[in-house]
Amino acid sequence: MFVKGFLFAVIQAVLLIWAAPLLAQSCGAGTCHKKLIVQKMPHQPVKDMECFSCHKQVELNHPLGKGKGAFEFTATGSKLCFQCHTPMGKGKNVHEPVKSGECIACHKVHGAADRYLLDNREDLTLVCTKCHDSASFTQKFMHGPVAVGGCTKCHDPHEGPEKYFIKGSSVRNLCLSCHTDMSSALQTEPVVHKPVQSGNCTLCHTPHGGAFKGLLKKKIPDVCIECHPKIGTRLSGLKFPHKPLQTEGGCSNCHSPHTAKGKGLLQGDEKTVCLSCHGRDDLGKPPLTNMKKALEGKKYLHGPLLKGECKGCHDPHGSNYFRMLTGNYPETFYFAYKEGSYDFCLKCHEKNLLRFAETTIYTRFRNGNRNLHYVHVVNRKGRTCRVCHEPHAGNEVKLISKEGVKFGVWKVPINFTMNQSGGSCAPGCHRAFKYDRDKPESYR
Ligand code: HEC
Ligand code: HEC
Ligand code: HEC
Ligand code: HEC
Ligand code: HEC
Ligand code: HEC
Ligand code: HEC
Ligand code: HEC
Ligand code: HEC
Ligand code: HEC
Ligand code: HEC
Ligand code: HEC
Ligand code: HEC
Repeated sequence: MFVKGFLFAVIQAVLLIWAAPLLAQSCGAGTCHKKLIVQKMPHQPVKDMECFSCHKQVELNHPLGKGKGAFEFTATGSKLCFQCHTPMGKGKNVHEPVKSGECIACHKVHGAADRYLLDNREDLTLVCTKCHDSASFTQKFMHGPVAVGGCTKCHDPHEGPEKYFIKGSSVRNLCLSCHTDMSSALQTEPVVHKPVQSGNCTLCHTPHGGAFKGLLKKKIPDVCIECHPKIGTRLSGLKFPHKPLQTEGGCSNCHSPHTAKGKGLLQGDEKTVCLSCHGRDDLGKPPLTNMKKALEGKKYLHGPLLKGECKGCHDPHGSNYFRMLTGNYPETFYFAYKEGSYDFCLKCHEKNLLRFAETTIYTRFRNGNRNLHYVHVVNRKGRTCRVCHEPHAGNEVKLISKEGVKFGVWKVPINFTMNQSGGSCAPGCHRAFKYDRDKPESYR
């Protein structure tokens, strides 16, 4: 009984060994497992009918009897694959299913419609979302390569030296490997935003997609304010905020996020940027002065404007002073000088301009030693500088206003002339007067 049984087992084993190649050959014959083999891209050992390199028959009654339990694998998990493939998964960052030997979670082991035992190696959405939440890959704004399932354009599916098995030496270099126009801009443009110069693009962007335009982690201006909190605190609570900061585009209305031609990440010189909006007749209600026209062809530009600057006088982000000026400047026709009330002008100009009724040095607007700025601005019904001076540009010396400033419905002319030691005016305020620093006029 025992001998008989033993003999049978030996014969069975010999038969199996002898017949294995033949048996395997026959697995694909007929209709039984044809489906496995007629894949468009069969796995090489399947194509070669080496079924037994992975399957080991343990019961003889196959194919006549049951299939289940008749076979075992020649090895388990990834060891099955490493019989022929170079082992992987010993690196620093290994993808979990590779570590746990679930190669066939992604690969169709017998063959598939595309290369690499995948049905579509270009679009891996279905493969990856077997385990990863598909919500991350179906957001409102999607990154091109993610939207089409090109996960392996950025990730190695198995392992890699970088976190998240990122391809390339860093996230930044990965991004720049496709965004080549940006990598050349980083080299050629004169101004580069600090975090873009060396930091990761993911400081501001999400790599896959999200709720905000431009793949931003947060919307503008929030994404900017995170690193520029001072400007953030100024977005609310300013008495005179600058409209474009609050409107669509926000910071991007003036700044480029990455690189720029102009100082301060502006897309051109400051004046050009400002005039891109302030060169219209219909900006604001009531409309603001068309600054382009106000400056065009003018003989005299106010000092900072000679350098193309607006910001010495206006805070581009808004301020607590009238017209977003950088200091106190009364907004009315009349305003008698008080300490501090004309700080805006006096931070750049002679700070004693309005302090003394008599002076020989602090102003040229004198009749003898009599300070005529004092007379006009400090006295009881002080007139503001705008009554005589243009803020931006003019065709008269000393920026004296030609058309004059509005007084109710009338514009008060100045009719100014200047000479070596003084000048004269015939304004709409009083009769014509002359002043002379050397030989004072008598007004009586
Ligand atoms: C490279 C290893 C490998 C080779 C070669 C291989 N198989 Fe498989 N086979 C597997 C693995 C792994 C599974 C389990 C698949 C699963 O669980 O999804 C499997 C499952 C099967 C199954 C059962 C599940 C099914 O998909 O129907 C059959 C039948 C099968 N193989 C037949 C064959 C035949 C026939 C050949 C040769 C023509 C062959 N295999 C070659 C690894 C291999
Ligand atoms: C019996 C040896 C053998 C085993 C076991 C084996 N492979 Fe392969 N595999 C090959 C050969 C041979 C090729 C073809 C190699 C080539 O073209 O360079 C190949 C190719 C591949 C390819 C690339 C296919 C392509 O289109 O280029 C993948 C992916 C692959 N195998 C995955 C696996 C996985 C996963 C396992 C384990 C489940 C496995 N292999 C087990 C022999 C094997
Ligand atoms: C998360 C899915 C996934 C898992 C798990 C996975 N692979 Fe892959 N594998 C891929 C993808 C996708 C490619 C094709 C990469 C490409 O297009 O460049 C690939 C390519 C391959 C290739 C051919 C190209 C190469 O890199 O040599 C082999 C061989 C391979 N895998 C073997 C394995 C083995 C062995 C395992 C298990 C230890 C495994 N894979 C686990 C997704 C996976
Ligand atoms: C069989 C399930 C499975 C499949 C399929 C799968 N993954 Fe994973 N993946 C995991 C698990 C589990 C982790 C580790 C847990 C986690 O962080 O979510 C992981 C982690 C990752 C990580 C790193 C996350 C981290 O926190 O370190 C990346 C990147 C990743 N997978 C990409 C892919 C890509 C790309 C594909 C498709 C080619 C894919 N995965 C397919 C299961 C899977
Ligand atoms: C354009 C490059 C790129 C593409 C394409 C891409 N990823 Fe990523 N992925 C990244 C980067 C970069 C990170 C790291 C994010 C970080 O540093 O915060 C990441 C992180 C991950 C993570 C871990 C963190 C997380 O968000 O859960 C998973 C999982 C992941 N990717 C899966 C995928 C899958 C699946 C696909 C394809 C549907 C894919 N990725 C396509 C660049 C990409
Ligand atoms: C595999 C190539 C590739 C890689 C790598 C890549 N991108 Fe892209 N990216 C694209 C393509 C393609 C577009 C769409 C271009 C278009 O429509 O003009 C795009 C668009 C973008 C956009 C504009 C999206 C919009 O809606 O306006 C941003 C932002 C972006 N990528 C950031 C990144 C960041 C950050 C990285 C690195 C994590 C990165 N990209 C890596 C290919 C890539
Ligand atoms: C300081 C934040 C910040 C950083 C860092 C940053 N970006 Fe951007 N990026 C932005 C903003 C803001 C936009 C404009 C989004 C919009 O309004 O559509 C943008 C737009 C883009 C666009 C689409 C428009 C264009 O200019 O072509 C691409 C592509 C892009 N970024 C790629 C990158 C890459 C690559 C890196 C890393 C080298 C990077 N970004 C780093 C903030 C940033
Ligand atoms: C990750 C932090 C970070 C984010 C986010 C960020 N910045 Fe910056 N930004 C910086 C740093 C750092 C500097 C350099 C500051 C310095 O040199 O003092 C800078 C400088 C600037 C400058 C001055 C540049 C110059 O050359 O004078 C401007 C303008 C600017 N950022 C605008 C923005 C805008 C607009 C955004 C949003 C799209 C933004 N920043 C988002 C970190 C950031
Ligand atoms: C109306 C145009 C305009 C808008 C909108 C704007 N800026 Fe500016 N910003 C400027 C100008 C002009 C400068 C001065 C540039 C220079 O010459 O250095 C500047 C300078 C800066 C600087 C560097 C100097 C400083 O004050 O710290 C930062 C940072 C900055 N802006 C951030 C922002 C942020 C963040 C936003 C959005 C909340 C924003 N800007 C919106 C015009 C603008
Ligand atoms: C994107 C368009 C845009 C740009 C660029 C722009 N502005 Fe403005 N600006 C406006 C709008 C809109 C208003 C508000 C008009 C209204 O509603 O009264 C305004 C108002 C002003 C005011 C009057 C503020 C007040 O409180 O009365 C000044 C001064 C001003 N801007 C100066 C500048 C300067 C200086 C620059 C360049 C740094 C600049 N603007 C760039 C759109 C712009
Ligand atoms: C030397 C200082 C100075 C410079 C430089 C300057 N401004 Fe002004 N700006 C003023 C003063 C002062 C006012 C207020 C005028 C008034 O109400 O009398 C003003 C008013 C304005 C107004 C409101 C006009 C209106 O309708 O009342 C705008 C718009 C304006 N400036 C834009 C600009 C722009 C754009 C630049 C740069 C191209 C610039 N300013 C440069 C001082 C300056
Ligand atoms: C940001 C600095 C700055 C501010 C603020 C400023 N100015 Fe000026 N101003 C200058 C510069 C620079 C010049 C040309 C150099 C010079 O002659 O002093 C100039 C020239 C002048 C001139 C012509 C002087 C001459 O000798 O030709 C007058 C008049 C003048 N400013 C009036 C004003 C008035 C009025 C205010 C306030 C509403 C004002 N400025 C605010 C910088 C400023
Ligand atoms: C009544 C007209 C008038 C008013 C009001 C006026 N100025 Fe003048 N200002 C002049 C005249 C005229 C000159 C030319 C003096 C000369 O060179 O002969 C002048 C010259 C100047 C100069 C050149 C330097 C100097 O003092 O000679 C500055 C700066 C100046 N004014 C600033 C101001 C400021 C600031 C205000 C307001 C606080 C102001 N002005 C108000 C008429 C006026």
